[in-house]
Amino acid sequence: MLNTYLPINHYSEMTAKIQKLFSFIKVILKQPSSINLITDSNIVFEERFKQKYSNFISLPQIEIKDLNDQIIIDRVESFLLDGSSLITDLQLLATLANRSDVKSYFEIGTWRGESVYNLAQFVQDCTTLNLSGEEMNAMGWPEKYALQHGILSTKNPNILHLTGNTKNFDFRGLKKKYDLIFIDGDHTYDMVLSDTKKVFKELLHDNSIVVWHDYAYSAQKIRYEVFKAILDAVGEENHQHLYHPKNTMCAVYTKNRLPTTPFDEMQSPTKIFEINIKQKGF
Ligand SMILES: C[S@@+](CC[C@H](N)C(=O)[O-])C[C@H]1O[C@@H](n2cnc3c(N)ncnc32)[C@H](O)[C@@H]1O
Repeated sequence: MLNTYLPINHYSEMTAKIQKLFSFIKVILKQPSSINLITDSNIVFEERFKQKYSNFISLPQIEIKDLNDQIIIDRVESFLLDGSSLITDLQLLATLANRSDVKSYFEIGTWRGESVYNLAQFVQDCTTLNLSGEEMNAMGWPEKYALQHGILSTKNPNILHLTGNTKNFDFRGLKKKYDLIFIDGDHTYDMVLSDTKKVFKELLHDNSIVVWHDYAYSAQKIRYEVFKAILDAVGEENHQHLYHPKNTMCAVYTKNRLPTTPFDEMQSPTKIFEINIKQKGF
């Protein structure tokens, strides 16, 4: 009996798929740019990634506590809105900033200023770089979006706000090496590649630590476009210094030797976070 039903199910599944394909073709004919949904999808980037890095599944995972003698910062501030980093991403950055060997911080991508604002509680010398308002307006981005840049970070007068496009910004002109650098600007392959190469060439000393945002879409879903850009940019000799801090969307470069565990997308949780939420007016 079962066997007679199976082909019918199979047939209706096929019909549904063909119908989906036809409606997809209709959408593409109506709006050709929607083809980008496929070409820019994580599945396509994963394929490309695996062609070049067949030996890499992911970066090895580390615990945030291992980045600062077991001291973890447990208080961060966030708007919890679009473009906000995860609370654990901010915790990672603040924990790194609280290291005794971190005295200077440079960041690409200010947005509302949440990352640099949290960092500045621990590091005096903080610089953040973002496209200028004029450039964002010229790119056709909404004025309301442009106006929100730095709304939190400008509350701290110690933070140096620079404007510029990393495509042509003169990093060498800063004449400085930084202890901690956060790359969180444009997340396309070409821009992560270019930003990373420039940072590695101009801003690093031997013990600098680099953090990339959006190495993953979530704590458990790797973003292959960004992952490939990082590996391509830092060069093979530096792959051994790259890690994925657990529960974050970030990748970290450090020459410190750290205990690691392999990444397993389907791993059952082994810890739970206790979070007290307080809100205040802004
Ligand atoms: C994801 S947001 C940064 C978020 C911020 N780091 C945080 O965690 O609070 C990215 C920012 O990078 C800026 N950006 C994008 N492309 C850029 C470029 N080429 N040069 C400089 N800034 C850029 C955008 O204006 C945007 O504000």
